Amino acid sequence: MINAPSLANCNVLELADNIKDLVAGGVDFFHIDIMDGHYVPNLCFPVNYIRDIKNAYPNATAEVHMMVDNPGDYIERLQQAGADYVCFHCDSTNFVRRNLTQIRAHGMKAGVVINPSQRIDVIEPYINLLDYVILMTVEPGFAGQRFLPGGVERCAELAELRKKHNANFLIEIDGGVDYENAGPCLKAGADILVTGIYVVFKQEDGITNACKRFRKFAEELDLS
Ligand code: DX5
Ligand code: ZN
Repeated sequence: MINAPSLANCNVLELADNIKDLVAGGVDFFHIDIMDGHYVPNLCFPVNYIRDIKNAYPNATAEVHMMVDNPGDYIERLQQAGADYVCFHCDSTNFVRRNLTQIRAHGMKAGVVINPSQRIDVIEPYINLLDYVILMTVEPGFAGQRFLPGGVERCAELAELRKKHNANFLIEIDGGVDYENAGPCLKAGADILVTGIYVVFKQEDGITNACKRFRKFAEELDLS
């Protein structure tokens, strides 16, 4: 399992300390939400934050979840900022193939995001171009929502589709991950879990301990 804390859950005045605490807890994969106020009714993180984070932690993976219209407009600047993984919502552009190809041509891992109201097989036409797929388990745009019913079954359906096509994209679960649904998601085939307020942030024992606690929990899970 890759634990991918969502930095949207940080208090912006404590962002540097929060990231330091995540790294001390063993985190090396950051989930960074970019929202433009159009695709979703909220704003989050400008591109230059990624550059600053990568400058401070060059060995960490910066995974960028774009919740924007016209995602193609950001690809070049994301690469310049040092992004490693870049994804966009499959209904945010008419040019999914072109954008996936461009992300890869810029040396980054490419992915799409499936919303809770979309069919899982929406990705079939470009399944061979995917390095990863985010399955939203909340409606996108706001941190701190509860995991929607059916998320685990949808994860299993995505894993089944991956198998059917002999594809090897990673499956990432985003939204409301907690100690109850994490195990079932991993069992259903998830590789990356985005963690937020139910796992890593706002925990009594602090961010670093919370990360270590979750890692131990995941290692001890029986996934057979
Ligand atoms: C929601 C974002 C998520 C969110 C996850 O639009 O994509 O990454 O920050 O954090 P939690 O699980 O706390 O909602
Ligand atoms: Zn996200």
